[in-house]
Amino acid sequence: MPEKIVFSTTANLYKNENLLPNNGKMLIEKAREACQGAYSPYSNFCVGAALILEDGEVVTGANQENAAYPSGLCAERSAIYWAGANHKGKKIKAIAVTAHRTGEDKFLAVSPCGSCRQAMLEYEHIQEGNIEVLLESDGGVLVFPSVASLLPLQFDKKSL
Ligand code: THU
Repeated sequence: MPEKIVFSTTANLYKNENLLPNNGKMLIEKAREACQGAYSPYSNFCVGAALILEDGEVVTGANQENAAYPSGLCAERSAIYWAGANHKGKKIKAIAVTAHRTGEDKFLAVSPCGSCRQAMLEYEHIQEGNIEVLLESDGGVLVFPSVASLLPLQFDKKSL
């Protein structure tokens, strides 16, 4: 018989976003505002991300699509790469992500794609500190303690 191995993760669901710790409520609100920067004529799906640096500065991003579909970029990577390029060496404390359909007000549950998880993980390793991940969810905001917790069996520089 093979040995069964369970890979699991845990998050906290805040049904009342006013109770989010630290700057959580502000950050999810900034992510919602950031959706306005989405350029998503192909999917009609607007994603916003907002991250907070150790000095309290907030960096936002939104998905940018392209007629050559794979050339587009997700909201999370647009925010984290901008922070990497412009705030090198500053720790990222948390990132919030949300989404809505074009022309609709309702914010939707969203979960970072695999490429964004991998990209965010790199920064968690560089800074040797967790980046909390706040996700718009059905009935509240989900808070994961780290990017690593969203990426079991991760591939990183130790794998090389
Ligand atoms: N997208 C993001 O920006 N972040 C995610 O975590 C998931 C997907 C974008 C990519 C594309 O512009 C649109 O959403 C539909 O996939």
